[in-house]
Amino acid sequence: MYMPVLVTGASSGIGEAVAVRLAQYGFKVWAGARRINRMKALEGLGQGRITAIELDVTDEGSIGRALKTINEDGSPLFGLVNNAGVSVTGPIEELQLNEWRRQFETNVFGLVAMTKAVVPQMREAGRGRVINIGSIAGRIVPPFMGAYAGSKHAVEGITDGMRREFALHGLKVSLIRPGFINTAFGEQEQEGLVPFMAEGRPYANAVSQMKAWHAKGHPQGASSMDVADAVLDALTAKRPHGRYTVPKKYIGPLMLRNLAPSAIVDRLFARITGVNGG
Ligand SMILES: NC(=O)c1ccc[n+]([C@@H]2O[C@H](COP(=O)([O-])OP(=O)(O)OC[C@H]3O[C@@H](n4cnc5c(N)ncnc54)[C@H](OP(=O)(O)O)[C@@H]3O)[C@@H](O)[C@H]2O)c1
Repeated sequence: MYMPVLVTGASSGIGEAVAVRLAQYGFKVWAGARRINRMKALEGLGQGRITAIELDVTDEGSIGRALKTINEDGSPLFGLVNNAGVSVTGPIEELQLNEWRRQFETNVFGLVAMTKAVVPQMREAGRGRVINIGSIAGRIVPPFMGAYAGSKHAVEGITDGMRREFALHGLKVSLIRPGFINTAFGEQEQEGLVPFMAEGRPYANAVSQMKAWHAKGHPQGASSMDVADAVLDALTAKRPHGRYTVPKKYIGPLMLRNLAPSAIVDRLFARITGVNGG
């Protein structure tokens, strides 16, 4: 019997790569997302071990239906990969509150709802792993990504809480922090910036500079498979890390962010990104 793992947000990018990598390794993979049609081809890549399942992490009814299907299949989930995410970009001052709510509904409350729904069966089984996909933006905040970075900061903190609480029942929890990864996510983030670049908008110049930096960074990003390898390690290592940074080149900037005064980090950031409003 293959150990079952549920991957959320598996209809594209990182989630798709994780589903394939885990199936190649030998897990039974439940690939969840709203766009189920997009996952038909994915099933074909899984050597018979990937099953697509309709799942909206912001809808408790959808979560319940997905878990019912999974549980009817047999053994309790061994792993949950909370990967589903969206990015709401734009100046903090200008983003509407409903956009802030959309950001946190998926990246934070969706992740919490999924975990709350799955952990009881792991706890009863006395084994299981939860892998949360965070972001470098969970520690380092680019301008005009305040809503997204805020959601990923929340994921950092919640993951620490989960790790310490669930360990009391023998469960393991890891956070994966990807940097730029070459997926469709980057386009979504850049498109979100466009309305704020219009003439007369208060941050127009700086938002254009940010978009240019982003447009350069994403295509040069690491492969989704690198993230998938980290997820595989978190699911299979005897002692998985609490945090995985992908790619490792971001560890230096993360350490600098922790140690250097904020004023220096701000200046360095403006120089690296070219976002200075001028
Ligand atoms: N790419 C990067 O540079 C990068 C960097 C750091 C962190 N990350 C994180 O990595 C994760 C995956 O990103 P990606 O790059 O693979 O982006 P992506 O290609 O846009 O994939 C996002 C996935 O999330 C799913 N999703 C969105 N809302 C959902 C909902 N309400 N319920 C269920 N699924 C939902 C989408 O599927 P449906 O629309 O079909 O539901 C899609 O499969 C995200 O958490 C993101 O924050 C990405």
